Amino acid sequence: MVFEQIATGGCQSYLIGCPESRAAVLIDPEVRQIDRYLGLAAREGLRIRYVIDTHTHADHFSAAQQLARRLDAPVVTHKLSPAPYADLRLEDGELLIVGDLKLKALHTPGHTRDSICLLADDRVYTGDTLLIGATGRTDLPTGDPEALYDSLFNIVLKLDPKLKVYPAHDYKGRGHSTIADEIADNPRLQKRDRAEFVDMMRHLNLSAPTHLTEALRTNMSGGKTVAQMLAEAAATVPFVSLDELADKVASDRLDLVLLDMRERDAWLAGHIPGARHLPRGQLELRVNDELPDPTARILTCCEFGRISTLAAATLRTLGFRRAAALDGGVKLWRERGFPLTVGDSP
Ligand SMILES: [Fe+2]
Repeated sequence: MVFEQIATGGCQSYLIGCPESRAAVLIDPEVRQIDRYLGLAAREGLRIRYVIDTHTHADHFSAAQQLARRLDAPVVTHKLSPAPYADLRLEDGELLIVGDLKLKALHTPGHTRDSICLLADDRVYTGDTLLIGATGRTDLPTGDPEALYDSLFNIVLKLDPKLKVYPAHDYKGRGHSTIADEIADNPRLQKRDRAEFVDMMRHLNLSAPTHLTEALRTNMSGGKTVAQMLAEAAATVPFVSLDELADKVASDRLDLVLLDMRERDAWLAGHIPGARHLPRGQLELRVNDELPDPTARILTCCEFGRISTLAAATLRTLGFRRAAALDGGVKLWRERGFPLTVGDSP
């Protein structure tokens, strides 16, 4: 078996391949690691046949949809997954066959309604059902401590004690453990009485994961994160450095249309000398009047350099083939001590 464990912060993804056929599966991919997964698969000579999410993640951004489309492979989830982009919805006990490898899906609700564990060879990929020294939490949408009790004590902990446990999260870099070790040492599994376990899970008082709203929105809808939108825009535009622009301003040879995309208050408080004011919210409304020459060189700027990137990408889409964005924003310009014009004049 070809096996790669890829950590992104505390999130764990797994690339598992058949050494004979070179067919592979990818479990719980995260959106920032797309190039890494593709690079690893290429290095190992693997063709990813299935992209699996063990559950609807509330704390990481799933790359399943993007990767699956790129690889022409199905997104695999449990049948109860709300993700509209899921192609193959497994029922409890069903197998995926990947060359000589077989992965068996076990429905283990509790952390979420659509949680699965995947059993393959000498190991079990437990998603967020069973973690090393912990369990998945049950206080997020569709979580249910009673269901988690059944999934753990009646399914997962009854598996072969020698099985290696590979969870979807580990924040301490421990890699894996075994079912036997978890039964012996996992503090949450010492509450073997149903009522005690449920009571413990109900009173963990965990803080909400960062990006909860955005992760649920994107993972349940297949929509994009704000960071993805920005990365996609940034990939289509060139940038101009602050120093380059400062030189142009200092030597009075601003040979481009510098557009300040911020709101009026920010513009009046201080803008880069020579800039014109065109708020991002009015770009499409005013573009035909303000920018009659599609061959003009345009440089967009804003406070932080993010909205200006989106604006430059929009201008390129509209046919302004020389639109670029400032690398950085007026905030950094100000902090660097470059000159500012206060008031309404350019
Ligand atoms: Fe989770």
